[in-house]
Amino acid sequence: MTPEIAETIPSWNYHAYWDELRRMEVELPQHSKEFQPLMQFVEKLQLRNLVEVGTREGGSLFMLSRILPPGSTIISVDLPGMAWGRKDSGARKQRIAERLRADGFTVHLVERDSSLPETATEVARLLDGAPIEALFLDGDHAFDGVLADFRNYQPLMKEQAPIIFHDIAKAAKLPKVEVHYLWRLLKTFMPWREFVAAPENGQGIGIVLNTDLPQGFDLKAR
Ligand SMILES: C[S@@+](CC[C@H](N)C(=O)[O-])C[C@H]1O[C@@H](n2cnc3c(N)ncnc32)[C@H](O)[C@@H]1O
Repeated sequence: MTPEIAETIPSWNYHAYWDELRRMEVELPQHSKEFQPLMQFVEKLQLRNLVEVGTREGGSLFMLSRILPPGSTIISVDLPGMAWGRKDSGARKQRIAERLRADGFTVHLVERDSSLPETATEVARLLDGAPIEALFLDGDHAFDGVLADFRNYQPLMKEQAPIIFHDIAKAAKLPKVEVHYLWRLLKTFMPWREFVAAPENGQGIGIVLNTDLPQGFDLKAR
């Protein structure tokens, strides 16, 4: 799968960005050994837009913004207090959005249920006809939830654009995390890459490059 991720050290300092988040008291529930390679991968694509489903306080949104070209459009779809969420995350998320706007990005926070078709319609409207160039799915982690998100936004995506999943690892101690079922199915027909630092602890990041589903392929067949 291309583009290749350089095994070299990136020009930016992951931990300096992470420190910045800590100073803003924003949590980053990501493993650095998984998220840094993801950032290296995404940086090379020079994206004009990114859609994140599941933002909570804005930790991953901030980190991904650091490697996007200036002026890109960033859309977050997140409803505080839904699965894996917190009711009080909205204020921190707003602060991150303000920071990103000050950095020159166009930022939209869509506070709606990501699984609803009308939410995808709103995302398409905000993109004004442009296809999604990268999608990060980190909202609902139940099989039906992540499948609903995939089905809702994949039709809006550019061909070969990365669809990034968090929590692809199957961990016995996290039975409610069911992303691995969908991940395993998508890998059978899409080019893929994964970064899994400690599978026994869950997490893990997987990237597939958007490809049409084979005729008759059943994504419910877990
Ligand atoms: C795991 S957290 C996201 C963490 C974030 N990506 C980060 O790394 O900083 C999941 C978020 O998705 C939201 N969420 C879950 N299901 C959702 C749904 N159906 N619609 C909108 N938001 C949802 C939760 O409220 C929570 O804020």
